[in-house]
Amino acid sequence: MKIPFFNNKQPGAFNMHYPDQNTPDHVAIIMDGNGRWAKKRGMPRVAGHKEGISTVVKIVKAAVKCKVKVLTLYTFSTENWKRPKSEVDTILRLPKEFLSIYLPDLISNNVRIEAIGDMANLPVHTREAVQYAIDRTRDNDGLQLNFALNYGSRHEILKAMKVLLMDIDNGEMSLDELDEQQFSRYLDTDGMKDPDLLIRTGGEQRLSNFLLWQLAYTEFWFTDVLWPEFSEKEFVHALEAYRQRARRYGGIQDDQKKNYY
Ligand code: IPE
Ligand code: IPE
Ligand code: MG
Repeated sequence: MKIPFFNNKQPGAFNMHYPDQNTPDHVAIIMDGNGRWAKKRGMPRVAGHKEGISTVVKIVKAAVKCKVKVLTLYTFSTENWKRPKSEVDTILRLPKEFLSIYLPDLISNNVRIEAIGDMANLPVHTREAVQYAIDRTRDNDGLQLNFALNYGSRHEILKAMKVLLMDIDNGEMSLDELDEQQFSRYLDTDGMKDPDLLIRTGGEQRLSNFLLWQLAYTEFWFTDVLWPEFSEKEFVHALEAYRQRARRYGGIQDDQKKNYY
């Protein structure tokens, strides 16, 4: 049965209060805990990954409602190739499964799909499904939904360095010109604002090679909730927590400047 993507009649959709002030523009999520969710139920790990798709649907919907501008989802890391082949194969089939059901709804809700990571080494069916979605949603100007697929931050930085060195070599970039902003343009996230909020589900408190450069001043929010159980309510919780944070970027707050001593 096809479940409509933006269905306000879902249980819990009523009475939800969405933060409307100081909403993070860019939310990045490490969607962790699928395997443990399945194990707890005596199911194979891949059942957890499949269940994780329904959470993706819920959270994209919540991000649209909360007027988040960019949502980046860590979907498959460069280190996840270490897993058994059958699990890797299942995970890499999920983008196609997800998009074959939900792309029309994403399009009608003005979502623009993007990807970061090394797409070249992904199976053709994964690459084609994601590229098709990117092409079909190119002109949309609502939520930007980024899938980090075969993404690893160290790999991304190294790849950027190689192109940068070639550009310096052929005179397209000079050492004098090179600053943080210029360097950012060599990363997969070129053109995107750095994440304001990072959410990691599943209880671990680490970055697992995710957006190391881009998370320099991001606010972190961790939860023990496993990804398949993560809900719109928790997402809104994270946004509320973000709203309370004072971001100083190494400086001091304006009100402290007034009574400075
Ligand atoms: C996250 O869930 C999904 C991917 C890494 C693709 P896990 O598969 O890592 O789940 P746990 O951490 O083993 O429970
Ligand atoms: C991070 O989760 C990668 C994704 C969620 C895609 P992992 O489960 O791979 O991270 P580690 O191995 O626990 O650090
Ligand atoms: Mg994990």
